[in-house]
Amino acid sequence: MAKPDANSIMEKITSLCKRRGFIFPGSDIYGGLANSWDYGPLGVELKNNIKKLWWKTFVQERDDVVGLDAALIMNPKVWQASGHVANFNDPLVEDKKTNERYRLDHLLEEKGVNVNGLSFDDMVAKVSELNLKSPKGNELTAPKQFNMMFQTHLGPTADAENTVYLRPETAQGMFVDFKTIQETARQRIPFGIAQIGHAFRNEITPGNFIFRTREFEQMEIEFFVHPNDWEKWFEYWLDQQKNWLTQIGAKPENLVFHEIAPEDRAHYSKRSVDTEYQFPFGLKELYGIAYRTDFDLQAHSKASKQDLQYRDPLTNEVFMPHCIEPTWGLNRTLLVVLCSAFEELDARSGEEDTVHEKEYILRLPKKLAPIKMAVLPLSKKEPLSTIGHEIANKLKKSWMCQYDETGSIGKRYRRQDEIGTPYCITIDFDTVEDRKVTVRDRDTMAQERVAIDELVEWFNGKGLTI
Ligand code: GAP
Repeated sequence: MAKPDANSIMEKITSLCKRRGFIFPGSDIYGGLANSWDYGPLGVELKNNIKKLWWKTFVQERDDVVGLDAALIMNPKVWQASGHVANFNDPLVEDKKTNERYRLDHLLEEKGVNVNGLSFDDMVAKVSELNLKSPKGNELTAPKQFNMMFQTHLGPTADAENTVYLRPETAQGMFVDFKTIQETARQRIPFGIAQIGHAFRNEITPGNFIFRTREFEQMEIEFFVHPNDWEKWFEYWLDQQKNWLTQIGAKPENLVFHEIAPEDRAHYSKRSVDTEYQFPFGLKELYGIAYRTDFDLQAHSKASKQDLQYRDPLTNEVFMPHCIEPTWGLNRTLLVVLCSAFEELDARSGEEDTVHEKEYILRLPKKLAPIKMAVLPLSKKEPLSTIGHEIANKLKKSWMCQYDETGSIGKRYRRQDEIGTPYCITIDFDTVEDRKVTVRDRDTMAQERVAIDELVEWFNGKGLTI
């Protein structure tokens, strides 16, 4: 059988997401808004489960990482001190005829140029060297540096003095609050601060579904260490990122760990490793880890005139902590979870109503599945319906459980397979006599008779809970 091409896989995933209410275009009734996506009933469950698993893994189960939820709009001095006002730029060119804007580095890559290590001036030189045109074949404007931070104004007047920025990374909250958190949470170095939250970047070319958007969420840890220990902690957090990838079901053959060359690192980093994932549309950055040195704490200390140094209570040594930053994009994580779980099958035999040729199934890790089990009475008739509602209401106290009595049982199984529900519970006429139901496993299709009174305990042993 021919392998389905990448575009068709992405189309199938996108269409499943829309059809089943995971993710669909934002503001759709007004024709949408470029690359804005809304997470529907199943999408929000999946996203919340990823956040919950991440928080449990990196905050709840550890003594040396504490949480933060900082304001999205920070004092603009934060972004001057952090270097984002001066350096957070992408190279931009515009089609002189259509006024469409493009990232110059992307256009050069499409022409086979290796842009790694090229400065802005190098890229400008390449434009004339290659007589570079827009993808529509038109002349391009002279390249310019485009700052990706969204600006807005605090209060009723739009003056330069009250210009503020929507944060382009969550990280600065952790640096600015470092001292307060270290003292109030009574943490000793090494320790970390974790945050999950929205970030905004005015991307020139967003796209590939939820891969690159202008509004997205990050899950970040700033881990503060003694300067002598940074290498050890860098390796440690890289391993932690690798372990996390196993938890979310990412296949090892789709992962590449890329050591970033010095000239390509962010302005604050002395070592960076990107985790890249083989998405259907290509090998792309998924996560990053950076050794930010004491760049941020020094910068904020200088700009705010506050002493952000740390005194070790045992040795009395006073030093500026250095920082290892593992960072995870939440939306890209969700996309990896979907891509890894998505499977297209020939219609499976042994189930009624298999008149169609293809079935889609999301083999989501059970902990992440939006709905853990579905209760499906074979008939809407009494007493099956009442028994079904009783079972669903009991299970809902612990898990997201759906009750569904509409359509043939084959169709209902397929609906649940498509949304990744690990278990389906069918109630038949024998249930009335023996108070037992049939539980079907999404992946093995094995069916087991389980007593209604033992259902909660049975599911407790199935690893559904985060
Ligand atoms: N604090 C460091 C930092 O922000 P980054 O590599 O610029 O580093 C971290 O971003 C992660 O955020 C990326 O690895 C990616 O997963 C996610 N990310 C960045 N830009 C994004 C965008 N436009 N859309 C979706 N996710 C994005």
